[in-house]
Amino acid sequence: MYSEKVMDHFQNPRNVGEIENASGVGTVGNAKCGDIMRIFLDIDDNGVVQDAKFKTFGCGAAVATSSMATEMVKGKTIQEALQVTNKAVMEALDGLPPVKVHCSLLAEEAIHAALWDYAEKHHIVIEGLQKPKNDISEGEEEEEY
Ligand code: FES
Repeated sequence: MYSEKVMDHFQNPRNVGEIENASGVGTVGNAKCGDIMRIFLDIDDNGVVQDAKFKTFGCGAAVATSSMATEMVKGKTIQEALQVTNKAVMEALDGLPPVKVHCSLLAEEAIHAALWDYAEKHHIVIEGLQKPKNDISEGEEEEEY
């Protein structure tokens, strides 16, 4: 049911953890399954993603897609990082079963939420970026989970 790449990224997820003083942090949730994903981005002065880490409280496909998505945005410019869509992540993982497509959407939204946070902190507008609908970052400082 799952490709070898999905299994690999699920069993050996890359970039698990947090980035202290991250340039942007995005937390998104899926209301249906209740899964939550948080992505941390370290973006340098040239707008290049130097590092990306994630924490996922979710299913195996969510872990695999966050692992792959964080790998894919590293070294990319903000505009290039915006192109790391759920489709691109799924392709890189050699596909996901149809019922798991929404899990990859969470990864795309978490990246967008982290970029949104970065843009807000730097008072800039990132062309083509909209605040993700499932962004639950509001007041995350106080939240513990
Ligand atoms: Fe919810 Fe996969 S089942 S993210």
